[in-house]
Amino acid sequence: MARKTLLRLAGLAACSAVLVAGCGNDSSDPPAASSPHAADPAHEAPAAGALPRVTILATGGTIAGKANANSAVGYTAGQASAQDLIDAVPGLDKIAKLDAVQVSNIGSQDMNDEVWLALATKINQIFAEDRADGIVVTHGTDTIEETAFFLDHVVASDKPVVLVGSMRPATALSADGPANLRSGVQVAAAPAARGRGAMVVLNDTIHGAEDVTKSNTTSVQTFVSPNTGPLGHVDAAAVTFGAPPSAQPRLTFPVPGKSPLPRVDIVYSHAGMDATQVNDALGHGAQGIVLAGVGDGNTAKPVVAALSNAAKKGVLVVRSSRVGSGSVVRNAELNDDDLGTVSALGLNPAKSRILLQLLLVNGVTDPAQVQRDFAAV
Ligand code: DGL
Repeated sequence: MARKTLLRLAGLAACSAVLVAGCGNDSSDPPAASSPHAADPAHEAPAAGALPRVTILATGGTIAGKANANSAVGYTAGQASAQDLIDAVPGLDKIAKLDAVQVSNIGSQDMNDEVWLALATKINQIFAEDRADGIVVTHGTDTIEETAFFLDHVVASDKPVVLVGSMRPATALSADGPANLRSGVQVAAAPAARGRGAMVVLNDTIHGAEDVTKSNTTSVQTFVSPNTGPLGHVDAAAVTFGAPPSAQPRLTFPVPGKSPLPRVDIVYSHAGMDATQVNDALGHGAQGIVLAGVGDGNTAKPVVAALSNAAKKGVLVVRSSRVGSGSVVRNAELNDDDLGTVSALGLNPAKSRILLQLLLVNGVTDPAQVQRDFAAV
């Protein structure tokens, strides 16, 4: 989804969402000239002692997973430490001057607001103190796209944040983690990676946070960017981007002060559906509801009615789709103007939920403003 300039009239910034266009950036250093074919720092002759500095923040996942002794296919995520991951990649310290921090050690199916806030705070602190030129976050693949999207909207720097994971545990035949970690460090160390927000790198492919999604339960080629395509590729010789960074400012927010974030539930649409999921969400105090609709963000009539009633009572309702690619068109099959709902446009349900949480925590509750913000990512 192309980033659009979001013109904010003075005083409308009640949400304190800001466009990162020099504010909060490392504006002391002009963004590196983006070259789509930046050479791999491992093959550039670094100026004397001036290897790029990369900090690795480890959260767990399969990349840190180890096989269960009593199972041919089973394993447990989040077993190896950040240093174990670094030690498994010969020559990593020739690509960048490395530092490592263990933020958590969990399977990413258990990723939560608390770890997100700790990660975001740590990243902003490291960049504000100029302690790294790039950051790699090792993470489970199940929710890596969500963490990447969250960080894409709360990191106050244009330095690269690269999330990497693996589909096979460290003890598997042809484990993919070490190669993915090396690729991630290459990208985090590459000047051409600046100004591209958070990225996900697996299987030699560089994806932007807005569009990347997991498309296969077990394949190493699971990550795709269905609407925009990948940003670029990594191999042993180079980090290659297909285009310069977007010239549009990123929509960013201050790191939320506390967890949990406002409750936003996802309602999954299917044939023969009634309004039970919507009523349950409202009954649990949801301030926002995201519809994972069928087709172009559609759903059964009783559900449409329940969602519209919720919207008219001040709950933010966003129509996304379970389909997996394409954009939910505003006022097409359903009339958002009449219903009081917002179209997610190209954002999938999980990322729509996160954007809604960030808007709510920043006091944005006007559906018209929410729609403009969805159009700005
Ligand atoms: N437990 C899942 C996770 O941590 C495994 C998937 C993976 O990391 O590849 O996301």
